[in-house]
Amino acid sequence: MKILIVCLGNICRSPLAQGVLQQKCDEAGLQVKVDSAGTAGYHQGEPPHPDSIKVAQENGISISHQRGRMFKTCDIQEYDKILAMDRSNYCAIKTSSGKSWDESKVSLFLNELNPGKNEEVPDPWYGTYDGYKDVYKLIDATCDRIVEKLKNELSLAQN
Ligand code: 4NP
Repeated sequence: MKILIVCLGNICRSPLAQGVLQQKCDEAGLQVKVDSAGTAGYHQGEPPHPDSIKVAQENGISISHQRGRMFKTCDIQEYDKILAMDRSNYCAIKTSSGKSWDESKVSLFLNELNPGKNEEVPDPWYGTYDGYKDVYKLIDATCDRIVEKLKNELSLAQN
């Protein structure tokens, strides 16, 4: 199982979500590889934003080794599940996927927590460290829910 989490710059929200979800999957013993990407290429090759690294670190998760990369057309085929942080990311994924677009694979990240509400993870890029702490809380709660669902999905697939 391969999951890709997508935001705009791939330095604030999605690297944090990658680190949190990977750690929770590993702790749950799930065979899941989590990755992240951005729909824009401004920060390709860069480490996550210092405040994302800091809030992850304060919660026992290391994300400083990650490097930003842009969403690629082939990602839609490479990954089993793609989670977009906001509606604009979702639309950009659709456009970049072209003929390979597969609606069944792509959803809004927060719909995993609050199904059908189409809520967005706010972009902390323009704000203070408090914004990163708020985003961490949303991501943490959502990843708990994702892991619960994956446990059910993967155990059903094994039986
Ligand atoms: P992210 O936040 O999409 O959560 O990584 C942003 C990072 C950088 C920029 C915008 C949003 N930027 O304009 O450079």
